[in-house]
Amino acid sequence: MNRLLSHALLACALALAGSAFAQDGAEVYAAQCASCHQPEGQGLGTFPALADNEFVQGDERELVELMLSGRAAMPAFASILDDADIAAVLTHVRSSWGNDADAIEAEFVAEVREGVDEPEAVEVDLPDDWFELGEAAYQRNCAACHQASGAGIPGAFPALAENAFVQGNADELLRILLNGRAGMPAFAGSLGNADIALIASYVRNAWENEAHLVDADMVEVVRGGGDLELDPTTPTFRPGAGQ
Ligand code: HEC
Ligand code: HEC
Repeated sequence: MNRLLSHALLACALALAGSAFAQDGAEVYAAQCASCHQPEGQGLGTFPALADNEFVQGDERELVELMLSGRAAMPAFASILDDADIAAVLTHVRSSWGNDADAIEAEFVAEVREGVDEPEAVEVDLPDDWFELGEAAYQRNCAACHQASGAGIPGAFPALAENAFVQGNADELLRILLNGRAGMPAFAGSLGNADIALIASYVRNAWENEAHLVDADMVEVVRGGGDLELDPTTPTFRPGAGQ
């Protein structure tokens, strides 16, 4: 094949890949946002409605900064979504459910991203084989209900695999493990901080999940009724986790 032709084909393949992966804001929304903000942007409980929302239709820079850095229980998407995906999902949200605001371009997201400081990972103190230890402790304490696959049992035990809550705010996850909730038993009495940290780190990184690790000191803080007060810009994803 001559060189010119192969370049033309490559450019064409890249253009196709770009449009297939990055541009569908509705798909990104369904995969990344709908579990909290709900399929029609109507919100639920502490998850604000994005439908008919002034902030969503307002200042583009503030909106992109919130997406990149997160805030409280809203995850930071800087390391989850690339510029094109963030532009696509925000453009979708800004033109759906009664919202009517201009599209956001990937170039603009890139510009805002440059001004947002790269958040630093928080140091965690875990043994090297935390994943295997966490898996074993999960099997002993959790798998009877939530299943070894993390898929749960529909209608009875929620799936922990690909679960936004499990990968979200670590304080809230630790609180439910320690104190229980409805049919979910409390583990504060039966498990020590080290085991709870291993299990929390495992469920946040097993299956397709990926989220910041948790160590025994963090569990102690939450057990004592405190908050981790992790900087909201703390990356949700920790490089190397889950391998
Ligand atoms: C784990 C749950 C969760 C996920 C997933 C999530 N959000 Fe949020 N989001 C929140 C919470 C909670 C808040 C409120 C934050 C606060 O209290 O400041 C919020 C706030 C927002 C706001 C600000 C709304 C306002 O009126 O101030 C926007 C915009 C937003 N989210 C968009 C998105 C988009 C787009 C996605 C997907 C890419 C997404 N969120 C994914 C939980 C989530
Ligand atoms: C006896 C069964 C049972 C066991 C054992 C159990 N859970 Fe649960 N779990 C539940 C039930 C039921 C719920 C739903 C509670 C509710 O409706 O509020 C739940 C909820 C959860 C949630 C919240 C999910 C969400 O999306 O809100 C998490 C996280 C969780 N469990 C993790 C664990 C972990 C980790 C263990 C092991 C340490 C464990 N569970 C052990 C029954 C169990």
